[in-house]
Amino acid sequence: MNQSLTPLFTALKHKNETVSCHVPGHKNGRVFFEEAAPCYKDILRLDATEIEGLDDLHDPEGVIREAEELLSSLYDSSSSFFLTGGSTAGNLALLLAAGPGEKIIVQRNSHQSVFHGLELADQNPVFLAPETDSLSGLALGISSGQLEQALSSHPETKAVFLTNPTYEGYTLPLKEHAAVCRAYDTLLVVDEAHGAHFLPGSSPWFPKSALSAGADAVVQSAHKTLPAMTMGAWLHLGERMEKTEVKRRLSMIQSSSPSYPIMGSLDTARAYAAEKNDWKETAEVISLHRKMLETKVRLLPESIGPYRLDPLKVNLYTEEEGRPEKWQEQMKSQGMFPELISPVHLLAVLSLDKEEISETMEKLVSVFSRETCTEKVHEPVPGKGLTSLVYTYREMFTKKTREVLWEESEGLTAAETVIPYPPGIPLLLRGERIHSMHLKERNRLRKKGVRIKGNREKLKVFDPGEDKKS
Ligand SMILES: Cc1ncc(COP(=O)(O)O)c(C=O)c1O
Repeated sequence: MNQSLTPLFTALKHKNETVSCHVPGHKNGRVFFEEAAPCYKDILRLDATEIEGLDDLHDPEGVIREAEELLSSLYDSSSSFFLTGGSTAGNLALLLAAGPGEKIIVQRNSHQSVFHGLELADQNPVFLAPETDSLSGLALGISSGQLEQALSSHPETKAVFLTNPTYEGYTLPLKEHAAVCRAYDTLLVVDEAHGAHFLPGSSPWFPKSALSAGADAVVQSAHKTLPAMTMGAWLHLGERMEKTEVKRRLSMIQSSSPSYPIMGSLDTARAYAAEKNDWKETAEVISLHRKMLETKVRLLPESIGPYRLDPLKVNLYTEEEGRPEKWQEQMKSQGMFPELISPVHLLAVLSLDKEEISETMEKLVSVFSRETCTEKVHEPVPGKGLTSLVYTYREMFTKKTREVLWEESEGLTAAETVIPYPPGIPLLLRGERIHSMHLKERNRLRKKGVRIKGNREKLKVFDPGEDKKS
């Protein structure tokens, strides 16, 4: 297929309309808040609706269908779909499509959209704790051995839901996981929100895509690492995945008025990825600049055990309290903002453009002062725990909750999720039994000064006997 074509974007660009007699109300940008109009002008010309020639996302037969076919061909999927609600929409639709009450094995440090999807679909999840980095404590991923053990304890599992890569950029050797899932006749679904640039052409300079490793369904946020507009994402299905129910669920989750500027930018982001022929050089430019940056500050390594780092993620690592805040201030003084900081690291995300990467990395090198750092070895620490929920989501909906002091919560069931960062792995999930080890771990993390989302003196728990009055 001719991947330089952009059927949807081209149709939008050449739309020829003198007077708009339909929504949206800005009428191709002619009616708009005066001060903002010059800023929005160009984009509003693309902000169309399903008029003739522009197709319909929910039932594509024209330019959207052609654009999705090009996407599918590039990523070698059996079918691919545009998402205008981010990977969030894809994760929700995939979980809903798996059906209610099904057992799903889920990586414990999944994105919140996965937890929301499990609840919306009223599923029966089993949570698997990921391995962590021995020094930073940050989450890495699920090993194939862990997955095998989990599936042998729960062979009736309908699907396994993994995340690849992590926010920090560590990827899994997913071929092994796909083989384990096939042996148990279970579907492998991968939230690859941060890996839209993993495609057949970018390998081996960038990590292999989940789809090519054998995953059955993969969600990617094109807007995170490709040049697409925010909320632009896509969903790929492999051969083993039945597409009708996924499509039906997507129609429920996504707006009936999907954004054409976003969809058009998905079409052009796909063409950008397809036309890019300097993946090797891009990875080399990053590697060169990483070495320069490493003369100033310490970075999380390019691999930790079997977990390989995506070159687009640059993580400064420290054991010094308050250092990430100082780095952030140094960056801000030069008009730069990191993707995130934690007590142990600062994450910077790069683009795929060599010149832009060089400029960014050179600026980063100049911003930081030289620090003394001793080399230490990072190793994966095995993830502990395979947990299920005490109540079904349906039962939780009807249960009364109350607040108790943390010290008095042992043996009760959490009614809220508590997430320390790092490692970004929930300490407690809503619906889990509270054990003494949770209390000990909370105390340990608090002493270390780790930020805990939902960290108060009291914890919300379910009242064991009592249901809400309807
Ligand atoms: C791992 C992961 N999955 C899914 C999402 C949701 O993606 P989106 O913002 O495209 O909805 C995110 C967002 O940060 C994420 O980090």
